[in-house]
Order: sequence, then structure tokens, then C-alpha cells
Amino acid sequence: MNISILTVFPELYEAFISSSIIARSVEKGLVSFNLVRFSDLVPPKVRIDSPTCGHGAGMLLKPDVIEKALAVCQEKWGNGTVIFFSPQGIKLNQRILKQFAQKHCFNTVAEPATDNAINTINSTDQQTTKPHIILVCARYEGIDTRVEHAYADYMISVGDYVLMGGDIPAQLFLEGLLRLIPGVVGKQESVEDDSFSGPLLDYPEYTHPIEWHGEKIPDIVTSGNHGAVTTWRTEQACKKTVLQRFDWFRQQQPEKKYLTCAKKFIPNHYVAIMHTQIVLKGGTIGQSSVASLDIHDVARTARTYDVENFFIVCPLRDQQQIIGTFLEFWYSDKGQEYNKGRSDAVQRIQPVNELTEVLAFIEEKEGKKPLIITTSARHYDQIPTIDYYSQSEVWQQERPVLLIFGTGQGLAPEVLEQSDYLLLPVQGMCDYNHLSVRSAVSIILDRWLGLQPKLNKLKPAK
Ligand SMILES: C[S@@+](CC[C@H](N)C(=O)[O-])C[C@H]1O[C@@H](n2cnc3c(N)ncnc32)[C@H](O)[C@@H]1O
Repeated sequence: MNISILTVFPELYEAFISSSIIARSVEKGLVSFNLVRFSDLVPPKVRIDSPTCGHGAGMLLKPDVIEKALAVCQEKWGNGTVIFFSPQGIKLNQRILKQFAQKHCFNTVAEPATDNAINTINSTDQQTTKPHIILVCARYEGIDTRVEHAYADYMISVGDYVLMGGDIPAQLFLEGLLRLIPGVVGKQESVEDDSFSGPLLDYPEYTHPIEWHGEKIPDIVTSGNHGAVTTWRTEQACKKTVLQRFDWFRQQQPEKKYLTCAKKFIPNHYVAIMHTQIVLKGGTIGQSSVASLDIHDVARTARTYDVENFFIVCPLRDQQQIIGTFLEFWYSDKGQEYNKGRSDAVQRIQPVNELTEVLAFIEEKEGKKPLIITTSARHYDQIPTIDYYSQSEVWQQERPVLLIFGTGQGLAPEVLEQSDYLLLPVQGMCDYNHLSVRSAVSIILDRWLGLQPKLNKLKPAK
């Protein structure tokens, strides 16, 4: 594979290209590098940058300089896939790297090494039919947008932060890409099992000595029982992924075996809807009636996200009778025949009089007190607030989780005060914020426990 790098500072690549695995890949003829220095393309003392138009400080690389660098590069080394690095580009991850490698690099064949596998603009190399990628590394404030429109096949970001130039992003991209090219890394299987290759992070790895700083390698790892080691590794990988990068796991459409394994490390969740200890219109604390739609819909949502129990907390006798009639039907043979799925969901409903019953029920079932996460349309500075990306913080405590929802105008202060955490309010992009409780339960359960497949498509810039 032929890699051209257009840059202000080719010297930044000297150590990168001439060390370790990349140097060996060059020697093996798997990869060759061409470096083009922008300033070599303009007459002496002519600047390669100019100020941004409009108000505000900053310099951009001149469009003509980049255009010339691309033209010279393509003339010498053939057409190639042009990549611009920009914090505004598509964010790099292992999936994107793999797709890029498959699409643009896999017809790479080992070729005999040349005496000078690192070419510079002054070399007299012939055109080549090897896959060719051209990396454009900007500096200063970046690149004129029109140049990106005209020439970028891909715009790639290496993360949500801003660096001083595209050279570290280019090296980062190459480190990730080249190890996917067969022959570059010693054992290809070690690449295939890496973190982010599938839904899981890599399993914990160990080397000698057996005991180090008081911590021993788990016996199973050194047992010699390959089957047991594989099972243990998968379990540990699931645990690590769920507790450290649930955001990644939930995006990956994990197979059932991984879901089953991952669930072992997610504590049981419970939902309570409060029809008592709530704020009513006018600010008094009181009770509300139950709505049959809420009972149906929340039961089905809770079942979908595998919530253990859905508690309806309501001390009002007449309301309890309504719930009782409803449950009686769904528990009956008639109800089960009528709609097995609905009946199944309803089995998880627990009507109770007050919150203390909920807490006692969970503690008895689990042998541990639950962590209480309350929900509200408002912010409360006094309660530790948590967002929808912090499941790991909660799950690492290995306690069951109770999510509490209010009716009326929301949960009474006496309930909020019992919170271990308050979830950030669910909000749209306007001031209206009056979700029904069943909608709030659906949104919050999905954000907290739902799979959120992301296709991670390598998107061309044009
Ligand atoms: C100072 S940055 C320009 C940032 C640009 N003004 C912005 O806010 O999007 C200069 C150059 O560094 C490179 N760069 C900086 N951060 C990057 C990142 N996160 N990913 C890829 N390239 C980056 C790009 O080539 C960029 O054009």
C-alpha cells in the first residue's frame, strides 16, 4: 500500500516511519510512504497560509497550495483516496477503520522493498497500481471549506477535541489502519479479538510473574484448561464492557449469547409509579388516581426492558379495587388467551400502599437495599444528579436499582430526599415539558437500559 502524506512538517514522520512494526512493514514491502512538504511547492519566501476571511483571528492553508500538493502527489504516485483530517469529520472508531481497510486497502500485496521506501517530493518514483491513500494534514485554523468540498473523499476526526494540526491524527489513523493489513502485525488473531472489534472490550490479560504487587493472576488463567479459560475470558470481557463501556455495548447489536452474559453484570431494575407523596396543583402534597392506560403501557414497557417489578404505589381503596379488577382479568385464563404477551407483562405488577413497602419488597427479594433513582421534570441542586450515560457508576455498586416516577406535579420533597441520584429531566428542544408518566417511563427506560444500535457507516465526504 502506498501512503502519501501532505504536511507542513514531514520531519514529524521520521521516527514514526522508521521504528518498530511500521518500519518492518516498510522493509517487507507491505507499505511505502511519500512525504510532501507544502512549503516545497511555493517559491522561497512565499507564504503557504493566509488570514481567514471575515472578522476573527486565524490563518488557513491556502487553497492553491493544497491543490498543487494533491496534483503533484497524484502525478508522481497515482490517484488515491484523499483523506482530510478535521475535528468536524466522521469520528474514527474500530468499525470505521475496518470498513476503510476493507474498501481501500485489502488488495494490498507484499512487494519487494525498495532501497528507499520513504519517498520525498524529489524522488523519481514511478506510478503504482498499489492501493494509494493520500492524507492531508492541515495546521493553523485548518483548511478553506471549498478545498474540502472539492477534494476530500473522507473527512476524519480522531475525537471531540481540537489539536494543533492533522499530523497526530494522521499517525493515529495509520497506527489503527496498518495493523489491520495482513502481515503487518505478527498474529492476525490478536487483532481480531481486540477491544471494539465486536461488542466487547478485550478480556483482562496477564503475564509473568504470577503474583505482582500482591495481586495474583486468577488460577483459571494458568489452569491449562483452554475451554474454561475461553469461558472465563468471555465473562470477564462482558463484565468489563458493561461496567466500563455500556455506551459501546448497546450500540453493537450484540448476539444473544453476549446479551445473556452481559445481563449477569447488570443489577436488577425496578420501577415504581407514585400515586401518593406527590405534589398536586397548588403545591399541596397528596394522592392521585390510577389511569388504566398507564397500567397497561408501563407494564409492557417494563417487561420490554426486563424490569423485575412495576410497583403501583397507591393507598386509595377505590383505586386499588380498579387495579385489582384489572389484574384479575389479566391473571385469568380468559385474559391469557386474549393476549398472552399482555398478560405476561402484567404479571410483574405489584400494587402497594406506600414506598416503604416497595423498599422492603426489594430488600427481601434481593438481600440488598436498592439504590434509589428519582425522576423529575425539574432540576434540584441538593440531590446528586446523574445523566443517561452513567449507568456504570450505578451498576458498579452491585445493588438493585429502583427508578421512581411521580404523577400529578411530580414527587414530593420527602421522596426526592431519599434519592441516591436524580436523573436529568427528559427535555425536547422547546420550553414545553409535560410528558405523561407512561411516556417518561418509556423514554427513561430506553435511555437507561435500551439497546441503541448504531450502524457506524464509513461515510464519504461527498
Ligand atoms: C486547530 S485545528 C482547526 C480546528 C477548526 N478551526 C475547528 O474548530 O474545527 C487545525 C487542524 O488540526 C487537525 N485536527 C485538530 N483536531 C483534530 C481532530 N480532533 N481530528 C482530526 N483532525 C484534527 C485538522 O487537520 C485541523 O484542520
